[in-house]
Parts: sequence; C-alpha cells; structure tokens
Amino acid sequence: MSDIINNTIDFVKDKLNGAEAGHDWFHIERVWKLSKKIAKTENCQHEVVELAALLHDIADPKFHNGDETLALKISRDFLKSQNVEEEIINQVLFIIQNISFKNRGEAPEILPIELKIVQDADRIDAIGAIGVARTFNFGGFKNNLMYHTDIAPKLNMSKEEYKKSNGTTINHFYEKLLLLKDLMNTKEGKKIAEERHQFMLTFLDQFYKEWNVD
Ligand code: ADP
Ligand code: NI
Repeated sequence: MSDIINNTIDFVKDKLNGAEAGHDWFHIERVWKLSKKIAKTENCQHEVVELAALLHDIADPKFHNGDETLALKISRDFLKSQNVEEEIINQVLFIIQNISFKNRGEAPEILPIELKIVQDADRIDAIGAIGVARTFNFGGFKNNLMYHTDIAPKLNMSKEEYKKSNGTTINHFYEKLLLLKDLMNTKEGKKIAEERHQFMLTFLDQFYKEWNVD
C-alpha cells in the first residue's frame, strides 16, 4: 500500500477518534474496502477513489459545527502536506463535497465515475445487516421509539401519514434505506445493494412477525 494511503488512514483514524459508532473509523474502513471492490469493475482513477473514500466523512459539516469550508480546508491541507497533485486534490474534494444523500437523483451522467463509486459504497454501508445495526444505534442514541403499531409506516405514504409515523426507527427504512438500491450508480454497486436490500425486507418481515404475537 502506498505511503499516502497509509498516512491518510492514520490521519482519518486520528480525526475520528471518539466518533459515534455510525461514523467511526470502521464505517470508513468498510466504505474504503467497498469502494476498492467496485473500482476494480470500473475504468477509474484508483487513487482518487481511495482518498475520497477515506476522507468522505471528515468533511461532514456535522463534525465541524456546520462549517463545511473549514472541514474541506482540513482535508486540503492534509493532502497538500502529502504532496498530492493539485489536480487529484481538487477531484477528491469535489467528491467529498457532493457525495451526500441529499444529492440523490441529481447525479447526471457527467458526474465523475470516482464520485459514483464512493457514493455507492457509502450507501451500501447504510443497508443490509450493517444498515439495520447503524439505524437502531442511531435511533437508540436519539431515544426514538423502535416502532409504533398505530403509526406503522409504509412505502408511498401520504404527507399526513408520514408526519405521524415520522420519528420511529422502523420508519427510517421507508424514508431512506429501502430507496437506496434504486439509487446505485454502478453495476457492481447494484449487485451488492440488491442482496442487502433483500436482507432488510426479510428483517422487516421477521420484525413484524415477532411484534405481532398472536
Ligand atoms: P450518512 O452519513 O451515511 O449520509 P446519516 O448521517 O444521515 O447518513 O446517518 C448515519 C446513520 O444513521 C445511517 O446508517 C443512517 O441510516 C442512520 N440514520 C439517519 N437518520 C436516522 C433516523 N432518523 N433514524 C434512524 N437511523 C437514522
Ligand atoms: Ni459515510
């Protein structure tokens, strides 16, 4: 492994020291490995993919009191200190700025393949068994209800229904997680997401079965 990648790993581990379980170093490690796996199936710049995967959550404004500019500057300064070429730095920063779920649907063909790969990897880590675990971890942290029988969520809810069901952890599956497989950019990403999606459906079936003891 190159020195730059090794140093980036150390930098990210240090920055994420004490981060909550959903966005800790292990999330980054999974996204990095998934990104490498997908990158093997695409024609792309592997260094850009790896650096962006490793740095993608450092720039998240939620870690910097909402200051995205500061967050990006930290990553830029780090990459400069590693003598990474300006051209590569700009590509990496563009990716970490544009990767979030909020940009769903707006991914036109012109977006760089390197962004599409890391975005797929980040979304894949939000679904499947890991997705279930992260979601309940988040809900527990917020002290949200796991589920509420009177306000059971479903796909394609009306605004009114949505308002009522909003707030339970199970609702998060319908609000976000079950939508992710259709947002995959790459063929390999779609393949991995499909299997994890099926697992979440199985999980939800079993959850309702166990909830509704008869
Ligand atoms: P990301 O950083 O992956 O774009 P978020 O910061 O929104 O996503 O969420 C981090 C983790 O917490 C993800 O696994 C996500 O599914 C989960 N999460 C986010 N919002 C909720 C919620 N309202 N209820 C339960 N889990 C949530
Ligand atoms: Ni992430």
